[in-house]
Amino acid sequence: MYRDTYAEIKLSHLDYNIKKLQVLAGDCFFCPMVKANAYGHGAVGVAKRLKSLGVQSVGVALLEEAIELREQSIDLNILHFGPIKENQVSLIAEHKITPVITSLEEIDFLKHLKEKIDIHLKIDIEMNRLGIKLCQIELALTKLKETSASLAGVCTHLAMGETLSDESSSSSQSLKKFKSLSDKHGWQNMDLHSLNSEGLMSLKDNTYSFGVRPGLAMYGVGEFAKKLGLKPVMNFVSEVALIKEVSKGEPVSYGKTWVADESKTIAIVSVGYADGYPWALSNKGFVKINEKKAKIIGRVCMDYIIVDITSVSVNIGDKVLLWGQLKNDEISLHDLADKAGTVAYELLTGISQRVPRKYINGLS
Ligand SMILES: Cc1ncc(COP(=O)(O)O)c(C=O)c1O
Repeated sequence: MYRDTYAEIKLSHLDYNIKKLQVLAGDCFFCPMVKANAYGHGAVGVAKRLKSLGVQSVGVALLEEAIELREQSIDLNILHFGPIKENQVSLIAEHKITPVITSLEEIDFLKHLKEKIDIHLKIDIEMNRLGIKLCQIELALTKLKETSASLAGVCTHLAMGETLSDESSSSSQSLKKFKSLSDKHGWQNMDLHSLNSEGLMSLKDNTYSFGVRPGLAMYGVGEFAKKLGLKPVMNFVSEVALIKEVSKGEPVSYGKTWVADESKTIAIVSVGYADGYPWALSNKGFVKINEKKAKIIGRVCMDYIIVDITSVSVNIGDKVLLWGQLKNDEISLHDLADKAGTVAYELLTGISQRVPRKYINGLS
């Protein structure tokens, strides 16, 4: 590695978060989401660690994500949450992937299957995204009987999991609906799952014992994660590449959107939007160097950001905290995403391939 920009992945924090979430979830289906390269943390590294913690199932969005895990010898139960196409059915069987069926058409594709596979069925109660509509359930169950697939689980996804502490919220009503559907159809002994991170954390005592698919919280990010004392798993770190002086009236970076109002010392930091550092933080964001805040000045470039270090003592090669924790410094990803006008999910999943993930195994 020639450039010292990396995402440090603290696996001990992942362990800690998973254990806390498992306690909250209780004895029910637990399926951490490792889609989108485990929210940028590296799907293979994270899945291996989850296996060592005794986790049995993980969730992905794409078939290629599932196959990557299989090719890296991950033998967990892999739930594939995206829609499938007719010509993908044999691939799913070959790699022993559990498809979460999202439409009647997909059940028709399963008729070509010779192998016996387990499937989960997704019910669309309130998202109007993936899943069969309530009025299609009977037909779906009939069609399923004409295939060699067996129904091992049923799930739904809520639009506002964070509102489940309020029993009158529309998502609470949807969850109740899901419960009455499962009672009506006798699904109680299957894997029933419906809660994302915020759903789990806002629903008191996991009232219906529905299974959980935690994503953001297990990576230790978000308001709820903070309240629960979960620990951020990723620290995004770069280094100071150059230091220079600019005089009053001199501009910095593309578009000359920042002009020095007096003599300034600036540092050029080796990270840019090609690494996943958001352009939206141009003239808005900040980093921490040697425990001091340094503001981003001018536009974020493809490979660099430029920060004002006039009142910070800095040397070339010093580490720069972009988000997460570094020694005594901390930058909340949630707050940074807010500043950028986006969500933490987008920043995490946007970290590009050219940023190495460094796995830290030790306890801290
Ligand atoms: C179907 C499904 N379940 C669970 C999750 C996890 O959500 P969160 O990261 O908010 O916990 C997602 C995330 O997008 C999802 O699409």
